[in-house]
Amino acid sequence: MKFRSRLVVNLDNLAYNVNQIRKITPNTNILFMIKADGYGHGMIPIARYAITELGIREFGCATIGEALKLREELNELEFDIYVFSDIQLELLENVDIYLKRRIIPVISNVSELDYILHTPELRNFPICLKFNTGMNRLGLDPNDAPLIVNRLKQHGRTSVHHLISHYANASAGMDANQTNVLQRTRFEEIKKFFRDAGITLERTSQSNSGSIEQKTGLRENSGDTHARPGLMLYGPSSLNDGVPGSFQGKLVSKLETYILRVFEVQKGDVVGYNSTPCPEDGLIAILAIGYGDGFFNRYSGAHLYHKGFEGTIIGRVSMDMTHVFFPKEAIGKITAHEIFTIWGQTEDDLKKFCMETKTIPYEVFCALLPRVPRVYRLN
Ligand SMILES: Cc1ncc(COP(=O)(O)O)c(C=O)c1O
Repeated sequence: MKFRSRLVVNLDNLAYNVNQIRKITPNTNILFMIKADGYGHGMIPIARYAITELGIREFGCATIGEALKLREELNELEFDIYVFSDIQLELLENVDIYLKRRIIPVISNVSELDYILHTPELRNFPICLKFNTGMNRLGLDPNDAPLIVNRLKQHGRTSVHHLISHYANASAGMDANQTNVLQRTRFEEIKKFFRDAGITLERTSQSNSGSIEQKTGLRENSGDTHARPGLMLYGPSSLNDGVPGSFQGKLVSKLETYILRVFEVQKGDVVGYNSTPCPEDGLIAILAIGYGDGFFNRYSGAHLYHKGFEGTIIGRVSMDMTHVFFPKEAIGKITAHEIFTIWGQTEDDLKKFCMETKTIPYEVFCALLPRVPRVYRLN
């Protein structure tokens, strides 16, 4: 466990982001995506706060293990949980977990649906269906809609608890991107097909962050009861540059570490593994964070900022340490033992960091290992 390197999680900013989403779509329920340990922010404290302070009642996990942990650790609280991908319905012990822990698996192929329909214990179990409208990952084939409706009817099922579709390109324009247009159309067709066949759709959802930011797939325009925000809850926009959106979130996290040591260098002096030469005279600050914390070697070359100086991550990132090269003007100004903020200092430092390191905020958040403590703050 690290001590002074930590992810500071500002819960007021989480509340702000949820309120912003509610302003965009006041009548659509939020199915709060909390998978991958709350996008790296710590699933349990985030969920507890979301339930008790923000009135959230539905969460989306990726695995049955995540869902079980959520249920066990927040046993006293009332909420629903969906498992979206790793449902492992075929394992007998999991059926027991789904039933007893009131966890809802998202069905994405016909054999899983058959399994529910043919298992007596699951006779009254909520049916949640996810259709592949163009993402081509998991999901039921829209061509199988007639077959699925027949199977439901054969088993006396007249309603679907939740009908779901997921966008492949929501970070692109919802009207400009052909796949988005196609996915939206297909989902409308599937909903209509079920309804025309007399199957009640209790809940429907299609929108993740990018789609919500563009105000599509919401109760107000497509009649969907739910939206499933993930990344935007934690602050960043997921829209590509130039795509207009209506969400200005606040970054929930701040990654802090501290400076273990500083030393002056001259041009050509070498640093760390593989002996990377310094580009000019300057200062090296050794940060107490490395790939053992989920701060990767491929971040080398990115710029970080401290006390108004621009530094560059130089050389190979070590397991526990990162070297940052600063120009010589920083000598005497940047000193050992100072807290050093990697992101969360300015509005867009995380975005810039992700662009420079050719990654995305989703990945940077999720990469942080448990060795970096999550510290929760309220203003
Ligand atoms: C099915 C589903 N819905 C919603 C989301 C949330 O997506 P985002 O984080 O882009 O809002 C995800 C995340 O991957 C997902 O898999």
